[in-house]
Amino acid sequence: MNIAIFFSGNGSNMLNIKKAIDEKKIKANIKIFVCNNPKAKGIKKLCNNNNKLKVIDHKKFASFREWEFEVEKYMQKLNVDLICLAGFMKILSEVFVKKWKKKIINIHPSLLPAFKGLNAQKRAFEYGVKFTGCTVHYVNEELDGGDIIEQSLVKITKNDTLNSLTKKILIEEHKIYINVLKKLSNGEKLWRN
Ligand code: GRF
Repeated sequence: MNIAIFFSGNGSNMLNIKKAIDEKKIKANIKIFVCNNPKAKGIKKLCNNNNKLKVIDHKKFASFREWEFEVEKYMQKLNVDLICLAGFMKILSEVFVKKWKKKIINIHPSLLPAFKGLNAQKRAFEYGVKFTGCTVHYVNEELDGGDIIEQSLVKITKNDTLNSLTKKILIEEHKIYINVLKKLSNGEKLWRN
């Protein structure tokens, strides 16, 4: 399985996937890392001179669609089977998502369909729900609305702060993203269609 990983920030999910592949826990090859944000902390963590890393600043393009064209140019000959969004903070266009139907997955820090969109941990915490968690899902045209592949539950306790909750969720994110990739790389069918 040839994968592309898109990220925008800290890159902990991206690095966690890379580690699992390096340690042969997942049978996959990372063909390209794409980062849209030159200030992303994940760039240094990955090692700036990783020759598979393409930092493509979306602000340098007249539209996000043009950014996508540029990314696709790099991906053209790489035979990418799956795009893994790992803390990727831009919304992909409908055209792009349709073209890559069931070939883009994302990790979201809530139990979808609750708390779609940004700051999901904060909104769950402030709402006062007793349980939240994270979700790996396919990406479709609706924000955080694609078919759910896997979820993990996180209990919010009286002692939790937003910070402790965010950390607990991130630990689960790392686990389920790897589980899903293991299954996909073994050719398991993860959705009924
Ligand atoms: C994660 O909580 C992810 O679910 C969300 O953004 C955060 C990124 O974390 N989409 P990282 O960049 O993988 O450390």
